[in-house]
Amino acid sequence: MIPQDFIQQLLDRTDIVAVVERYVPLKKAGANYQSRCPFHSEKTPSFSVSPTKQFYHCFGCGAHGTAITFLMEHAGYSFVEAVKELAGQVGLPVPDDGAQRAPEEETRRDKLYERMEVAGRHYRQALKTAEPAIAYLKKRGVTGETAARFALGYAADDWQPLAAAFADYQDPLLVEAGLVIANEGKRYDRFRDRVMFPIRNERGRIIAFGGRVMASGEPKYLNSPETPLFHKGRELYGLHEHRRAIQGENRVLVVEGYMDVVMLDQHGVQNAVATLGTAITPDHVTRLLRLADEVIFAFDGDNAGRKAAWRALENSLPQARDGKLLSFLFLPEGEDPDSFVQAQGAEAFRKLCDKATPLSDFLFAELSSQTDLSSQEGKVRLATLAKPHLAKLTQAPMLARALHQRLGALTGLEAPRSARDSRQHTSNYPSDKQADFQARRPQGRSAVQPSAWRVVLQAVLHDPARAGTLPELPESAQPEAQTLHALVSLAREHPEMRARDIVEHFRGRPEQAVLEPAAAELLKLGDDYDVEADFQGALGALLVQAGRAAVKTLSDRRPSELTPEEKARLLASLKTRKPS
Ligand code: UTP
Ligand code: MN
Repeated sequence: MIPQDFIQQLLDRTDIVAVVERYVPLKKAGANYQSRCPFHSEKTPSFSVSPTKQFYHCFGCGAHGTAITFLMEHAGYSFVEAVKELAGQVGLPVPDDGAQRAPEEETRRDKLYERMEVAGRHYRQALKTAEPAIAYLKKRGVTGETAARFALGYAADDWQPLAAAFADYQDPLLVEAGLVIANEGKRYDRFRDRVMFPIRNERGRIIAFGGRVMASGEPKYLNSPETPLFHKGRELYGLHEHRRAIQGENRVLVVEGYMDVVMLDQHGVQNAVATLGTAITPDHVTRLLRLADEVIFAFDGDNAGRKAAWRALENSLPQARDGKLLSFLFLPEGEDPDSFVQAQGAEAFRKLCDKATPLSDFLFAELSSQTDLSSQEGKVRLATLAKPHLAKLTQAPMLARALHQRLGALTGLEAPRSARDSRQHTSNYPSDKQADFQARRPQGRSAVQPSAWRVVLQAVLHDPARAGTLPELPESAQPEAQTLHALVSLAREHPEMRARDIVEHFRGRPEQAVLEPAAAELLKLGDDYDVEADFQGALGALLVQAGRAAVKTLSDRRPSELTPEEKARLLASLKTRKPS
């Protein structure tokens, strides 16, 4: 059982608007967000999501609930799955036993949030009269508007600046929140004489601060320690402020510093986030890919930048997905996004982004620079170096295939068009499951592109009743085809199942890898998407293919081996076929 206070903690960190928005396009309407209800069919929007209450409600059909309910009701998750999904998104480990924590625990978290909020307000207020801090920000080009937008503040040059903000400076929660340091009976503020950057979670609550020295001094940036609210390797600075812009542009830029995010924003580039002095983690990549199809990692053009970029590449490979674009932007030596955008402007910066190096180019460029491709040994070395990286592309089978082909072309070691090789390396199924798939179904000779299978698959998922009316489909070893066959037999057996039940049914099975993205893609298509037209077209393509394959199979066999029914089919098809 999942402890109740964990659920609370999870919902605390989750922004329901962000969760719902991944499935339903929301429009701001007053304090809330609106759309047409995803739970019933309607023309005018009566579905409303409240960011303050963290609740959705449909005035038409009465559907309502939290982010967890939404994932269960709309996306077909079970309770535990919904909790795990959300926990994964915000980076909380799910406790696995039922050890209940006291409810005081919960109020304590709330109290920590409240302390952070009070501190943030205090710093913000202090900035208004802190001449040196204002001068510093001005010197760096930060406008008052930008400072307000990011709620920048100032921690006074004093031992206990926060004593003025809290009635009880001895409050142990101030220490737990990382605001105050208790040392040998003495207490003093962690942040002193620094410009303060509040760090918010996706929901907009302050979970930490970063403080910058104004003169020289170490460290340049002081960050909050790890606290119950703050886990530095999970968070991204600017995610709350920029989430909507990121979704709107369908592109997110990952930079290294607070000031980069702030100054890019001031110049109109509002889709940037920054890591908090840590490497880019797989968790970061997953979260970003949920928001946008394109992620650009920006680094300094120096050696340290390339090293950091390589780390980011290694952590991105397992998260890469077909149809998503990951790329790397190297700034001119000595520049960072902040200095670049101030010197050259937003347009020049956007042009740099457009020319970012795709992950695959960066991968091959780095590895090739370590090898001498003019010798056989060098080619073998490149192949040896590349293989373990390509093997990590478990969720991007097409990209993996393309990279294997490129490796083959570079080294001559792998025939670029070897179907056997590409299948071996590009399956998104665990290899034993893959083998199982291939053993269960005859090897298809079908050359139908996967997209036709996928379209038919989606149409059936959209309306499982279609399974009952589908004609016999050709056999194929393609994962999409295998999944469609499994889906059709399930839907025929259980006509009452809806898409979400079906996706749930295949959880943990190889079909899930095909079904889930197909279902998700379906949800992204607008209401005006003509499922029927695409379905008929794709089905037609499949059947033409099936007809050819069947005739070929029959005509390959001796007439004496054919049943009368097969003979009749062969004859009929030969009659209608033009002589070739
Ligand atoms: P940089 O040293 O590249 O600084 O640190 P910057 O972002 O260009 O900052 P400005 O322009 O000099 O103000 C990049 C990021 O690394 C983390 C911070 O998150 C910073 O934004 N960092 C850096 C620290 O956490 N501590 C430090 O002492 C330095
Ligand atoms: Mn800088």
